[in-house]
Amino acid sequence: KYGNPTPEIVFDAKNLSGKPIEKIERKIMDLNMIFKDKGASETMDQNQIVYEVDCYFPVENDTEGGLFFGITRIKPGKVGDEYFMTKGHFHSNRDRGEFYWGLEGEGQLLLMDEKRRARTEVIKKGSVHYIPGYIAHRVVNTGDTELSFGACWPSDAGHDYASIEEKGFSIRIVQKNGEQHIIKE
Ligand code: F6R
Ligand code: ZN
Repeated sequence: KYGNPTPEIVFDAKNLSGKPIEKIERKIMDLNMIFKDKGASETMDQNQIVYEVDCYFPVENDTEGGLFFGITRIKPGKVGDEYFMTKGHFHSNRDRGEFYWGLEGEGQLLLMDEKRRARTEVIKKGSVHYIPGYIAHRVVNTGDTELSFGACWPSDAGHDYASIEEKGFSIRIVQKNGEQHIIKE
């Protein structure tokens, strides 16, 4: 009646640990399509890890009314002059929102609506970000240390990566003369 007890799961900026944790790794070879400088990504070590996600899925995928929990860690680094970042996605069920919160390091959360209007929020230790439905989201590590953040999203949100792989975001974050710059596509 009261559901299953939460297994002992703990998180910090480095990890989500406990029992049923699923781990996802994204390497350069998985991300060649998202960076602007294709030539630069092709010459890099294809096995280099760009980011990792530890997830806790207490219910089946697509369960209405359930929630998922994850910790993402993005390595510091660049492809050409563009900082390491997540693939980014809209939720397949477009109206599903999400929370992100910063744990360690510093970066930018890119938010873009379906009309491709984009804005950014600084993500760092202690920052809280509500991502409304219909908004694509991507995180960029602009620092020189690992950027770690938490996420909580509906179990029936789903991920639409294809729209972003095809059209990208309308803004990118690059480093010029040692400083971060937002460039419009
Ligand atoms: C879930 C969510 C995050 C991301 C994670 C990796 O809806 O937004 O848990 O899945 O930060 O980013 P993506 O999924 O864009 O590769
Ligand atoms: Zn999401």
